[in-house]
Amino acid sequence: MSQSGFTLWFTGLSGSGKSTLATYLQPILEQRGKRVEILDGDEVRENLSKGLGFSKEDRDTNIRRIGFVANLLARNGVVAMTAAISPYREIRDEIRGRSQAPFVEVYVEAPLDVVEERDTKGLYKKARAGIIKNFTGVSDPYEEPLKAEVVVHTGKEDIAASAKRILAYLESKGLA
Ligand code: ADX
Repeated sequence: MSQSGFTLWFTGLSGSGKSTLATYLQPILEQRGKRVEILDGDEVRENLSKGLGFSKEDRDTNIRRIGFVANLLARNGVVAMTAAISPYREIRDEIRGRSQAPFVEVYVEAPLDVVEERDTKGLYKKARAGIIKNFTGVSDPYEEPLKAEVVVHTGKEDIAASAKRILAYLESKGLA
């Protein structure tokens, strides 16, 4: 039986729960017979995008690389989940436009004060102190999606509830 691949593109602030959601969904989709790969922002920056910084130009390059690889995977039947901030709407839409398999954008929404309070990596504190410059949400832009297929509110609901809504969307489209 042929597999139907797609891209599940998570976007949202650092600490919003993108990677957590992708990791949570992976075994669930695998149990449904899918092959799944996760392109995680931090991992990609260690490997595929090593040396890139956080200027708009470097972020765009990073996101185009992730989009390129996700498309290769998705068009070959894999579920490609991406978990990078991907702050610029135009680039996300560009990747969507080039995608040769279904492209599902998931906006992982959490208010800045919530992710700042979590500060899982201690980076918001450094950004506020000016030690890290151009930090998304603090001193660099984040452009919310205007027509994401799914929006989850991780400040208000737990990961299981967000994942359930993503799965419900995928099921409604015959993707999961
Ligand atoms: S993106 O903008 O190019 O999509 P990406 O998701 O790859 O970003 O990397 C974001 C991660 O890099 C953050 O979760 C955080 O751990 C780290 N980081 C370091 N500096 C910054 C910064 N200036 N802005 C945002 N994230 C940063």
